[in-house]
Amino acid sequence: MSKPFSISNSEDQEAQGQENTGISLGMPVKGEQSDSAKMVLDDKVLKRNTSLPLTRRALSDQMKMTDREVEERKQLIGFTPADVGYLKDCKEHIVLRIDSIVEKFYAHQETIAEVELLIGDVETLKRLKAALRGYIIELFDGYYDREYVNKRLRIGKVHKRIGVSPKLYVSAVVILEKLLQKELLEVSMADRVCNECDGRRDALHKLLMFDVQLVFDTYISSLLSEVNAASDQVERYAQGLEATVAERTQQLQELSSMDSLTGLLNQRTFFNILRREISRAEENRQPLCLSFIPSSHKSVLPMVPAGLISLD
Ligand code: HEM
Repeated sequence: MSKPFSISNSEDQEAQGQENTGISLGMPVKGEQSDSAKMVLDDKVLKRNTSLPLTRRALSDQMKMTDREVEERKQLIGFTPADVGYLKDCKEHIVLRIDSIVEKFYAHQETIAEVELLIGDVETLKRLKAALRGYIIELFDGYYDREYVNKRLRIGKVHKRIGVSPKLYVSAVVILEKLLQKELLEVSMADRVCNECDGRRDALHKLLMFDVQLVFDTYISSLLSEVNAASDQVERYAQGLEATVAERTQQLQELSSMDSLTGLLNQRTFFNILRREISRAEENRQPLCLSFIPSSHKSVLPMVPAGLISLD
């Protein structure tokens, strides 16, 4: 589970090929640095990491999701510390009700033929229920940092890979939100006052939208990677084709200028060369000599430049 303030685990960092700075990637370390210093560090670490292979970089690194970017996204949707408080207050109730929420969610999902087909078997459904349990509890943990973001980005990648279309994903989020909002209402009713009803509802809605943005960022990024890979393939194919065309053109040029039987230049080439030599002689006001040597005079032939030997 991520912590709002944490010292980095050097083994984890080394495993990811990151230099141990003593500070976990993007995680604020309490009392050590100013926000701007942390962000500069965050950007520096990110830049250094871009040279690592994809398999050694977290999705948040690959997608340049700095602490600054995470904070900007929260600001854009108006997700404030008060929202964090509203959600944390509901955690206890949600944990108690988690099994029922997950069962209701999948009972609904199983009524959609396309979803049932994508899930496919009982073991996958079991894994999915466990994954959703974790996902829901994280919504109410109160830690919405880069580690949280990384998990959300991964959800996008996994669903894109499996082939869950955005329409299915978004409709599932709508169902999940409905189930969770019902639970939040129960928390408020237990308080017998509804001062916080709107706050809780809005906080959950904002966080789910924050998640959806991240999920679709990876959908789009995976799609772009596929398009780029396909376009590279087409480019390589076109380059191969160009080389083949150039080779064939050269072969055709050779064939059209030579006699296929003897390999000597043919009559057409002879006249082309003759015309060229005449115009050059005229230009330079030089005399030009043309010799006719019958092929029967074999002893003379080797002394004649090959380019000037022609049949007929
Ligand atoms: C509210 C919307 C949804 C949430 C929050 C959600 C959450 C998750 C999570 C957290 C995982 C694990 C990802 C990982 O391996 O890191 C997962 C995997 C998966 N999800 Fe979803 N999901 C949602 C909607 C859907 C829908 C609509 C489908 C099907 C159409 C679906 C099918 C799957 C499948 C097949 C896996 C892989 C399970 C496995 O083989 O381990 N999910 N989901």
